[in-house]
Amino acid sequence: MTEAILLVGGKGTRLRPLTVHTPKPMVPAAGVPFLTHQLARARAAGVEHIVLATSYLAEVFEPHFGDGSDLGLHLEYVTEEEPLGTGGAIRNVASRLHSAPGDPVLIFNGDILTGLDIPALVDTHRTSGADVSLHLSRVEDPRAYGLVPTDGSGRVTAFLEKPQTPEEIVTDQINAGAYVFNRSVIDTIPADRPVSVERETFPGLLADGAHLQGMVDSTYWLDLGTPQAFVRGSADLVLGRAPSPAVPGRCGERLVLDTARVAADAKLTGGTVAGPGSRIGAGARVEGSTVLRDAVIEEGAVVRDSLIGAGARIGARTVLDGAVIGDGAVIGADNELRDGIRVWCDAHLPDGSVRFSSDQ
Ligand code: GDD
Ligand code: MG
Repeated sequence: MTEAILLVGGKGTRLRPLTVHTPKPMVPAAGVPFLTHQLARARAAGVEHIVLATSYLAEVFEPHFGDGSDLGLHLEYVTEEEPLGTGGAIRNVASRLHSAPGDPVLIFNGDILTGLDIPALVDTHRTSGADVSLHLSRVEDPRAYGLVPTDGSGRVTAFLEKPQTPEEIVTDQINAGAYVFNRSVIDTIPADRPVSVERETFPGLLADGAHLQGMVDSTYWLDLGTPQAFVRGSADLVLGRAPSPAVPGRCGERLVLDTARVAADAKLTGGTVAGPGSRIGAGARVEGSTVLRDAVIEEGAVVRDSLIGAGARIGARTVLDGAVIGDGAVIGADNELRDGIRVWCDAHLPDGSVRFSSDQ
């Protein structure tokens, strides 16, 4: 049996203000905390034991997921006193693993939505005889990721985290945030100090002649680290473009959670989610957006590709396009907010006070 470690301790800085009260993996995507999709996919691939490596807002995970039995999993939680980085976090949970030294252990970044064939990654690991295997994805602009060039046999030749210069952009293959480590390799990571698996462990293993194997595939892949990506990922789950056994209800244009109230002539399209207790007023149009718990969208508002925080209120006829509205914020009527604008939690914008548009 393969067991897994999930890295869920990051601060989610780029997702603020959504991550002010909620750690990134617990922000709802398609109606459930994003982490639920990763846990359900790991379970579907045969994983039974998962250790969550937590740090930022660690206290919210266990009350929600408990021992994992609702998902058919055995979950354990380990909290770092100080953030230990990705490698330090992996090493810090090693004592909870049951695997023998030669056994494969799966490791996942906690913010990736992907259709990765997990058993195929484990197979690649076994058949190549690697010490570590990595899921790789191809992206147009790799600068925000770890670059992972490979040779003709898929063996990793270098690891360049977040390249700074054009010369460093040697490939479009990036670290997709899912690994198989032999248990014995985890035990070689230094304990009790911060370690970056990307900047220290991978380059160090390569320098020592270890075998790192890459598995490139073209399946759905998205890092939900930015608000735009998060909204896109949630919509893709609802639309059925991103696979997850944990989407509540059938896939379609919209997902209306129990206790949400949507006016009969409101139009919800493009994978929009209306969270529990939310209210969408008459004539409102909401496209490709995530409306979290207890948020209100008043009549005639037009909301596109936006994220509306828990308990936030969007006034009548207000237009939002690519906006992020923090929990509890109140946007008055007749405003216009576009192009990635973020409104902080509990902020108040009076009626008709903002008209922001890129073509004005
Ligand atoms: N427990 C713990 N402690 N977890 C952490 C810590 C820590 O100190 N720091 C980060 N994490 C977790 C985050 O919660 C996230 O799930 C994962 O580790 C990766 O951190 P991110 O902050 O999301 O990193 P990134 O997106 O900039 O880059 C990483 O992911 C890319 C793919 O999306 C790297 O692994 C890149 O190489 C990779 O390409
Ligand atoms: Mg990330």
